[in-house]
Amino acid sequence: MNRFVDSLYVREVAKITDKLYQHGWDERNGGNVSYRLTKEEVKPYEDTCEVLRRIPIACSEEQLVGTYFLVTGTGRYFRNIIDFPERDLGLVRIAENGKYVDLMWGFNDGGRPTSEFPTHLMGHQTRLKQNKAQRVIMHCHPTHLIAMTFTQPLDEKTFTKTLWKMQTESLVVFPEGIGIIPWMVPGTIAIGQATAQKLEQFSSVIWPQHGIFASGSSIDEAFGLIETIEKAAQIWTTVQTQGGNIKQTITDRELNDLARAFGVTPHPGYLEV
Ligand code: 13P
Ligand code: ZN
Repeated sequence: MNRFVDSLYVREVAKITDKLYQHGWDERNGGNVSYRLTKEEVKPYEDTCEVLRRIPIACSEEQLVGTYFLVTGTGRYFRNIIDFPERDLGLVRIAENGKYVDLMWGFNDGGRPTSEFPTHLMGHQTRLKQNKAQRVIMHCHPTHLIAMTFTQPLDEKTFTKTLWKMQTESLVVFPEGIGIIPWMVPGTIAIGQATAQKLEQFSSVIWPQHGIFASGSSIDEAFGLIETIEKAAQIWTTVQTQGGNIKQTITDRELNDLARAFGVTPHPGYLEV
């Protein structure tokens, strides 16, 4: 892979992982990103098409065979990726039976894709059914949102409405709401399946006491979704530290007006009509 390190795709992931770290949402090796690339996008960088290594993966994603993903490495620190992209990122292609990936570029010290890669692949596959433009899965540990999972009921409707009412932008950015799974062991097929099931309805899923799993058709879209959700959680937290005595809020009627004005459809049944 000739000059792939200088590609727009590597620069985009290096920049966003740095931003995520700067926000404090990716301590140590917390968080992971995968970015689907098309054959056409990869082609200009292919010189010999050489496979560097074949790496086993814990799931079998036959429908994604031949698909390329630029992905963060397991155990890698987001604060380092910007300086060491060829070490901490890898470009992989899902191999014939879906049980392996072929490493085309990166992970040059022997690294492997994130431990959450099976969950990413299940997530991509699910979102691709809703939206052919789906390209990015982003997982991180946003502080205020995680804090809310200790104090708030883990009920999707209640949680979503709380965040919708914290700022006008929320409903416009995540009108379908936010999915929530129970606490589960990360890096497992079970958490991947539970998350993918939620991604059938929602573009983001809360992992209680852990973080968020978000999807999008671009790096900007996935990041924008996370920062909007986290901003709402930060406002909620600030309201609580001001005493939590809410004197006025955005009503359901106003949220319905907002949805009409912006042409979005709120999750059915979440707002009083
Ligand atoms: P990885 O280092 O394997 O990407 O894991 C980080 C993480 O956030 C697990 O949920
Ligand atoms: Zn995590």
